[in-house]
Amino acid sequence: MSKKKVFVETWGCQMNVADSETMLSMLQAQNYETTDQVEQADLVLLNTCHIREKATHKVLSRLGALRQVAEHNPNMKIAVAGCVAQAEGEKLLDKATNIDILLGPGKIEQLPELLSRHEESAKPVSALGFKKGRGDDKPHHPVEMPTTVKPTVTGKTEITRYVNIAQGCDNFCTFCVVPFTRGREISRPAAEIVTEVKNLLADGAREITLLGQNVNSYGHDLVRDQKLAPSAHGPFVDLLEEVVQLPGLDRLRFTTSNPHDFTKPLAELFRTWPKMGRYIHLPVQSGNDEVLERMKRKVTVAEYWERVNWLRDVDPEMALSTDLIVGFPGETEAQFEDTLKLVEAVRFSFIFAFKYSPRKGTAAARFREQVPEEVMSRRLAALNELQDRITLEMNLGEIGRTREVLCHYKSRKEENVYYARTEQFRLVKIPSDHDLVGRIVNVEIIDANKTALVGRLV
Ligand code: 5AD
Ligand code: SF4
Repeated sequence: MSKKKVFVETWGCQMNVADSETMLSMLQAQNYETTDQVEQADLVLLNTCHIREKATHKVLSRLGALRQVAEHNPNMKIAVAGCVAQAEGEKLLDKATNIDILLGPGKIEQLPELLSRHEESAKPVSALGFKKGRGDDKPHHPVEMPTTVKPTVTGKTEITRYVNIAQGCDNFCTFCVVPFTRGREISRPAAEIVTEVKNLLADGAREITLLGQNVNSYGHDLVRDQKLAPSAHGPFVDLLEEVVQLPGLDRLRFTTSNPHDFTKPLAELFRTWPKMGRYIHLPVQSGNDEVLERMKRKVTVAEYWERVNWLRDVDPEMALSTDLIVGFPGETEAQFEDTLKLVEAVRFSFIFAFKYSPRKGTAAARFREQVPEEVMSRRLAALNELQDRITLEMNLGEIGRTREVLCHYKSRKEENVYYARTEQFRLVKIPSDHDLVGRIVNVEIIDANKTALVGRLV
């Protein structure tokens, strides 16, 4: 039987990439293969993101464009998954009548069932809501997910792979829609995570990144529900210690860290285990305590610094990146300047800066004093300009250094050029006549710009 074709489009965070891979592996079992030609697809899967503005609008305009594709490909089915599906719910089916399947991020395992239900009924079908079993007062069941090697979205073996360790978030930062679209935090059993990592390493992966909205609070739910015994350094540190020792692993990373749950023993792990990548994404959101308080971030600027210092104490070269929001409701010019000062002082490798965007259902959307668009634009530009200067300075500072890099892939555009990352996660372009993919090599940095370094094999 000839295979059916699925075209996947993934927006937003790494969690969505991991979810797309999970859905792909279920589709493979249903005789699907991936295609990068939407005109040939039997199924188009849009895995959507709702974190900031215009999310629904973007999905609707993509669906509009797909109508034209469908004129030449009338059997094409369309599935909308991810956080827009969850946030908009069945209203989305009225707004876009060409959706066949609607699937929230807590229900991805139902995709095959929805496909066959749709086939029988020829009507739109949906599965929304969160994982069963997590009532606020009831013990919940850890999420169980397949541990087999999932196909990559690119269809190729990848040197670096992502493994979900928890879903959802319990934090309710006042700007954030995640607890509403992905539900409360549910951790995966450690044994299952370890098995998945082992399988990926056996399949050729060399670097693993553990994923969650707030990885540092991994397992707190399991301990609370007595599914896991409390331990001295907490479940996340225990998990990292187990994974970092797996044979075949070259580098271990994790994201996203929440400063609130980032502990000293976690920072100390980097001292013990050289394989832990020397780069951490640690979102701060603002450099001003009053703003942080209204965001309900639960840490002050001083506490953020404490964590930065723990990490740089362990390794002075520890690279950091962060997320920042400009124009949070009520943010004054002076408060914004505190953010500039923090960015200047920490010296992040890079930042992700966003204009505040009110999300329905979140507390901050109801705050008065929303900041005008033009003020947000100006602040965003100032912040990015500052960071661009710092990024360039830091990258230029690499020139003349010798760095151990893990080579991820061969350039598709340039002949005999490979792309690698330093332990600090800086991108390095390396000309080479030999295949470097998957190898750890030493390079001397000979050039740099804002986005990448250039290395010469030594
Ligand atoms: N407006 C702007 N930025 C947001 N983020 C999350 N919610 C919003 C919002 N409503 C940003 C935060 C977060 C990152 C993933 O997206 O900086 O860390
Ligand atoms: Fe959103 Fe805050 Fe949870 Fe991050 S920690 S996902 S910003 S609620």
